[in-house]
Amino acid sequence: MENNREELESKAKVLQAADSIMNCETVALDEEKKAVVIIDQTKLPGRTEFLRLESAQEIWDAIYLLKVRGAPAIGVAAAFGIYVLADRMETADYDCFLKEFQKQKEFLDSARPTAVNLSWALNRMESVVLAGQNKSVAELKELLRREAIAIKEEDIRVCRAIGEYGLTLLKPGDGILTHCNAGQLATCKYGTATAPIYLGQERGYHFRVFADETRPLLQGARLTSYELYAAGVDVTLICDNMSAAVMKNGWVNAVLVGCDRVAQNGDVANKIGTSVVAAVAKRYQVPFYVCAPTSTIDMDTPTGVDIRIEERPAEEVTTMWYRERMAPEGVRVFNPAFDVTDNDLIAGIVTEYGIARAPYRESLQEIFRKKKAAAEAKP
Ligand code: MRU
Repeated sequence: MENNREELESKAKVLQAADSIMNCETVALDEEKKAVVIIDQTKLPGRTEFLRLESAQEIWDAIYLLKVRGAPAIGVAAAFGIYVLADRMETADYDCFLKEFQKQKEFLDSARPTAVNLSWALNRMESVVLAGQNKSVAELKELLRREAIAIKEEDIRVCRAIGEYGLTLLKPGDGILTHCNAGQLATCKYGTATAPIYLGQERGYHFRVFADETRPLLQGARLTSYELYAAGVDVTLICDNMSAAVMKNGWVNAVLVGCDRVAQNGDVANKIGTSVVAAVAKRYQVPFYVCAPTSTIDMDTPTGVDIRIEERPAEEVTTMWYRERMAPEGVRVFNPAFDVTDNDLIAGIVTEYGIARAPYRESLQEIFRKKKAAAEAKP
């Protein structure tokens, strides 16, 4: 009886903390104090801490150390970050401003190489400065502020649209498997791979979700299971090496994952282990879908082979999360943060402009044609 009460109390505590986190912004701009404010994702789910990032080094570190992570959230943090840095520049001379802006942009861009949203957002911010040669520095700063806010607002709209398209691929009661965290915490709202799940939850679809824990940094355990549980989704946490068992049991009707960079031919870089899930899904005839905002599709990268894969410190595998080291001192460790899923394993790429299917070179081009037409149709 006593145990039961304790259990219920601790469940209520988790739900309360997680629920309040879902009402917080993953990335925000403190306009008054000129800082980027983030939820420190490395502390979740145990502690909810917010960080105020002001200097270039603080912003760079937060991205590199995954305090803010997930391709779209990284892009928004970089956009706010470069605005905050630009706003503090003292010169009134355009050339000096541009030079300093580009120096800071290059620095932030070096924090992580694989998620294209980082350079995508920074390039978008730079284009504001490049197009504003005839404007004063004060005007440029204001335009940069508006652009950064627009990037964030777009992210919310884009994720919702991905959710609507993604939902057309699913039926009530479906089992869904996801890898890493492509959830609200990786974006500004809804997530990408989780957007269809959240919309389905609102509409009574009663999905059963399996979240891979995602070694070595446990984004699936710490973040995905946390946020879905808080939203009342039926979520079951599994270790990465259990996905085949779950699929073989027939419990999964679709795999939904996010991504960090989609190449022109539809090869997809996402969190390490994603390609294993895709291969297993193919074996058990479970459709494997990638949810990708167009900001993550890089038509300048021909194939997955051309995507630079970030490698991270060995300690993430050998010691992090453990009370004591779990591998012999000195053993060689290979720790790539991402892998590439070959396009032939992918049943569809769900974007905010519809679902691209193989052959991807053509269908992705079509998605960008729709994006251009939509932009041109805007008043
Ligand atoms: O290293 P991370 O945690 O930034 O990796 C994140 C992922 O791989 C996500 O799946 C991806 O960014 C999709 S975010 C909607």
